[in-house]
Amino acid sequence: MTLRIGVVGTGQMGRYHVERLASSVPDAQVVAVSDVYVEGAKQVAEQVGARVYSDGHDLIGDDQVQAVLIASPGFTHEELTLACLAADKPVLCEKPLAPTIDACLRVLEAEAVKPRRLVQVGFMRRYDDGFRALKAAVDSGRVGRPLLLHCRHRNAAVPPGFTSDMMITDSVVHDIDVTRWLLGQEIVAATVFKARPSSLAPEGLQDPQMVLLETAEGVLVDVESFVTCQFGYDIRYELVGESGTVALGEQPGVQVRAEGRHQGPIPADYRERFGAAYQRELQEWVSGVLGGEVVGPSAWDGYATTAVAEAGVESQTKGGRVAVELVERPALYA
Ligand SMILES: NC(=O)c1ccc[n+]([C@@H]2O[C@H](COP(=O)([O-])OP(=O)(O)OC[C@H]3O[C@@H](n4cnc5c(N)ncnc54)[C@H](O)[C@@H]3O)[C@@H](O)[C@H]2O)c1
Repeated sequence: MTLRIGVVGTGQMGRYHVERLASSVPDAQVVAVSDVYVEGAKQVAEQVGARVYSDGHDLIGDDQVQAVLIASPGFTHEELTLACLAADKPVLCEKPLAPTIDACLRVLEAEAVKPRRLVQVGFMRRYDDGFRALKAAVDSGRVGRPLLLHCRHRNAAVPPGFTSDMMITDSVVHDIDVTRWLLGQEIVAATVFKARPSSLAPEGLQDPQMVLLETAEGVLVDVESFVTCQFGYDIRYELVGESGTVALGEQPGVQVRAEGRHQGPIPADYRERFGAAYQRELQEWVSGVLGGEVVGPSAWDGYATTAVAEAGVESQTKGGRVAVELVERPALYA
């Protein structure tokens, strides 16, 4: 059985997903693509023999499209995801589910009345071998009850127009999702601290930042967000439990990272670091949809993450600790 997929947004991520679906996910066929920049969509469509639309709604309404992957910018996600729900079509929406709490709640409300989940959010770290091994080690109880989690999230560079609040809403959102997934707890507060800005960061970008998250059971999580670190894509985690630690991303020996170059196996960007995770994310989504069940990161995960990110941005602008209050979790996400 083959799942016929329509992809909305053929920029960097959309193209990447289309290529993977076409080349490495055997049960998937990309039958339609759409982008407001139609020329770009045409180039992608030609490679896989797909139809082209300029309007994502027309793609969602296409009878040939059984499931939709949304890879357009975050501000378009609410409207497009709601259209997929109205059409009863499973949808894999790239993160964020939507950029505001209210927009996420509208998606939750629309999905919560359905007999089954249709929405999955593109938090792909959950599909990475290393992150899965980290979770398995924590869940096994080998290091005891988690107390602290240290997260390092470093990018070599960011595109023009990347702003200080996007460091939370675009980048730290992944660490927010990992924290909730790894610990199985909601986050109840966020506080953002601003370090001395790097002279190598674009003017006006507050880089780096430290984000302190507090979970419902009192685990403290610090996230270093440093998006112009120059040397590569460096993702590291260390969980501190009552009787030991579990680390991800550390290499044995001393590593020097400096002067625009790195020593040792540090990936250049997220595609190199998480290529296998994106692959598995797509494969498991396609298999799940074909089997009638969507089990990946849910609209609830998307909502909870956006709520924490919004608290982070409020802390960033006003200073101090900002509490996170979630609505009651609908039964669909129990
Ligand atoms: N999971 C991850 O690791 C990861 C990594 C990068 C980006 N993303 C997410 O993927 C999404 C896309 O990011 P990107 O880096 O590919 O951006 P991009 O700017 O490269 O591409 C976005 C594309 O969407 C198109 N577009 C804009 N409005 C549209 C609309 N209404 N309908 C259809 N197409 C529209 C643009 O013309 C552009 O081609 C974002 O939500 C981003 O947060 C996720």
